[in-house]
Amino acid sequence: MSETSTLVGAEHFRYVAERTTREDEFLRELKRAAIAEGIPQIWVAPEQGSFMQILLRAARARDVVEVGTLAGYSAIWMARALPEGGRVRTIELEPKHADFAERWIAKSDVAGRIEVLRGAGMDVLKTFAADSADVAFLDADKSSYAKYLAECLRIVRRGGLILVDNAFAFGELFGAATREDVATVRAFNERMAKTRELQSIIVPLGDGLWVGVKT
Ligand code: DHB
Ligand code: MG
Repeated sequence: MSETSTLVGAEHFRYVAERTTREDEFLRELKRAAIAEGIPQIWVAPEQGSFMQILLRAARARDVVEVGTLAGYSAIWMARALPEGGRVRTIELEPKHADFAERWIAKSDVAGRIEVLRGAGMDVLKTFAADSADVAFLDADKSSYAKYLAECLRIVRRGGLILVDNAFAFGELFGAATREDVATVRAFNERMAKTRELQSIIVPLGDGLWVGVKT
């Protein structure tokens, strides 16, 4: 804790969330439908979605790659920040999740801007051209994060962004962990911090969001 920082707690996060663009009724409905269909209740926090939109707009992003579509919630947040002609290529391994996401994306206001690509993250990423994206968002299996990062450093143009979810390891970053992938996230965080092609920082929104600029 440095002398120049305020120690933030639950009150501050509530204060931030209350002053942030909220999710709309469509995204709330998507979540209710996902729960009803037994899709895992895993999505970015609304204030994180809003922050990602701000980053995409500031970066003037047109082409976004996402690894881990799940219900399509974050893909819709991101697609809404893109200009006409922009696109999100989002990769999903689980057919049930891809089916759900495709249905809800088709009903959304950004249906023409999101492409759901089915398959394992690495298999699909390998088909993407170098420098073909402005932003990549990693939010899939944590065991492959290091490989996804290496691949996205190829795919994202210089000056582009690499965003990575779950830097806080599902809330288990410190102390004893109940999940195996907590150690994986901790190791990934060290790698991210040491990646010289990126200037990066963990933004404490949601479960911790890595934001890296490719220098
Ligand atoms: C889990 C995965 C995520 O990407 C997330 O944001 C929250 C939870 C999980 O695997 O439980
Ligand atoms: Mg996540």
